[in-house]
Amino acid sequence: MSAELVRRARDVQKNAYCPYSKFRVGAALEAADGRVFVGANVESASYGLTICAERMAIGAAVADGARGFSRIVVATDVDPPASPCGACRQAVGPKTERRWVLRDLLPDAFAKATLTR
Ligand code: THU
Repeated sequence: MSAELVRRARDVQKNAYCPYSKFRVGAALEAADGRVFVGANVESASYGLTICAERMAIGAAVADGARGFSRIVVATDVDPPASPCGACRQAVGPKTERRWVLRDLLPDAFAKATLTR
């Protein structure tokens, strides 16, 4: 686990806008080219419009031209760390650390290849 990614995820977690859930999430995503993009959850009074920290980081990365990704650290305040939603693949809690292999989190995922005709 990269200490730098953990620091960035913890740092951006402070900026989470979560007046409804009070559940702060920060994400630091490392792109294949080495750049790191961050995201925090942003909630809406129309709850379904809430954006997860991970998707925020992915959006920032894609908008900046990044494509391949190597690692993502997700910071929350719960211990043991929350199992991430479908978009979230790796999480770090304040005291403990859990790691998953992507295919174990989302086996037989609906993927790009599925849409290829
Ligand atoms: N949330 C994330 O940002 N990432 C996850 O992996 C799970 C949930 C956010 C969405 C919402 O703002 C709050 O956590 C509670 O669900």
